[in-house]
Amino acid sequence: MKHIRIIAKDIKELPPLPEVAQKVFSLLHDPKSNVQDLVKVIQLDQAMTANILRLCNSAYFGLKRKISSLQEALVLLGQKKLHEIIMTDSSNKYYKKAGLGYNLEKGELWKHSVACALLSQILVQKTGLPEDPFLFNAALLHDIGKVILSTYVRTEYDQIIRLVKEQQYPFLQAEKEIIGIDHAELGARIAEEWNFPEALVEAIAQHHVPDTENYISCTVHLCNLMTIMMGIGTGYGLADYGKDDVMKKLGLKEKHLESCMVELWDELQQAEELLKY
Ligand SMILES: [Fe+2]
Ligand SMILES: [Fe+2]
Repeated sequence: MKHIRIIAKDIKELPPLPEVAQKVFSLLHDPKSNVQDLVKVIQLDQAMTANILRLCNSAYFGLKRKISSLQEALVLLGQKKLHEIIMTDSSNKYYKKAGLGYNLEKGELWKHSVACALLSQILVQKTGLPEDPFLFNAALLHDIGKVILSTYVRTEYDQIIRLVKEQQYPFLQAEKEIIGIDHAELGARIAEEWNFPEALVEAIAQHHVPDTENYISCTVHLCNLMTIMMGIGTGYGLADYGKDDVMKKLGLKEKHLESCMVELWDELQQAEELLKY
């Protein structure tokens, strides 16, 4: 509990999302809004433009010809993919701040987050789950609370693990007991501070304990478990917590998960540029 006031200050001090990322959210809210406005905002930021073009030209997208302008990227990849690239580029800098408190190697939280985001789209494509404009972002940012909390978890790790091992606390509850807040709640507070839409705030808050009526939080919860099962990221004491309920709600069977995980391995082989940290 002793850290809670400093954590509130840390949230305020986290740099805001770049203007372009905020613009993406307003476009997701209003599909009729003009994507050219987004291109104009990105063009003002040369470093971001260069990064986005680098990602567009990476092996992951497998384009036959080189993209040299944002307009071309928009035409060849489409608005949805461009949004995803912008959000991936914009959130990378926060994950760089994540410490080692969660027993994660440097860059592992980033890889876990990108893998969850890619997997959310594979699930939609391969199993017929509904498209949702916020799903990719919710999966990408579900653990954003760890960016701040990792410092505190690191200093209190022994106490947290003692609760998990000796008293069978779920990790999230042990975090809350020792630090005063868990990473899901903290992530939701960051999302509120950044004026994220309500759907995204809720999905981040519920990613370990999903409301089965909330499609995004169920899907993100499942992506989180699947990537942990694949060894991408860690989830102490998570096992397959809540997996059966979520799969039932989403109408998925084990065979669906297996084929999606195979596809994710393939995509990750091609995603070297996306995973740069
Ligand atoms: Fe988490
Ligand atoms: Fe996670």
